[in-house]
Amino acid sequence: TGKFFVGGNWKCNGTKESITKLVSDLNDAKLESDVDVVVAPPFVYIDQVKSSLTDKIEISAQNSWVSKGGAFTGEISVEQLKDIGAKWVILGHSERRHVIGEDDLFIGKKAAYALNEGLGVIACIGELLEDREAGKTFDVCFTQLKAYADAVPSWDNIVIAYEPVWAIGTGKVASPQQAQEVHAALRDWLKKNVSDEVASKTRIIYGGSVNGGNCAELAKQEDIDGFLVGGASLKGPEFATIVNSVT
Ligand code: 13P
Repeated sequence: TGKFFVGGNWKCNGTKESITKLVSDLNDAKLESDVDVVVAPPFVYIDQVKSSLTDKIEISAQNSWVSKGGAFTGEISVEQLKDIGAKWVILGHSERRHVIGEDDLFIGKKAAYALNEGLGVIACIGELLEDREAGKTFDVCFTQLKAYADAVPSWDNIVIAYEPVWAIGTGKVASPQQAQEVHAALRDWLKKNVSDEVASKTRIIYGGSVNGGNCAELAKQEDIDGFLVGGASLKGPEFATIVNSVT
């Protein structure tokens, strides 16, 4: 479905020096041209990355404020992100949900604001291990997906990232079958609750311990339209391998 989409979520990692090296490795990498490639540096390095990275790779933020800027100490507005050249924002990441405490309603409002202002949204969802073990994977994912569906003005500029929390940063990647099962269920949910068109055109990407070794099998799955990569996106050549796993 749609063009393969690979995002590198650098999370809260890097220094000016390490990011200079990473950007240079990405600039040197041979990337499949038929893939949307996006990287999400920490806010403070976005400007550096934007001015040094090939314009074949777009920039995403890792979060954005829920409304117009102003007296919100420590926050970064969508307008500021656009001003420095970001095209995307990652919202609803499990670390923001479960470490920082953002809830569905707040995340939905952020998504709506960002989309209305013209940023693309990488909308993350995913179940905890305890949810999976209790047989609640679909319930949890559908509830999180519905929160976006209830809030957003349109689906034109949204990529859904399914990231099972138990797979994030653990080295325990979902099997291709486990990921495909959830992706297919998410697409079916969109079909029933939004529209056939949105279900068929919205890219659903997988995240959670994706690396250069496991990406190819995952990429073969019918409903896996790309990846959101954490740890392995900090290594330029490995990230390139993941980008080039498009089938
Ligand atoms: P890892 O690839 O490090 O598991 O992280 C995945 C992730 O959270 C991407 O947003």
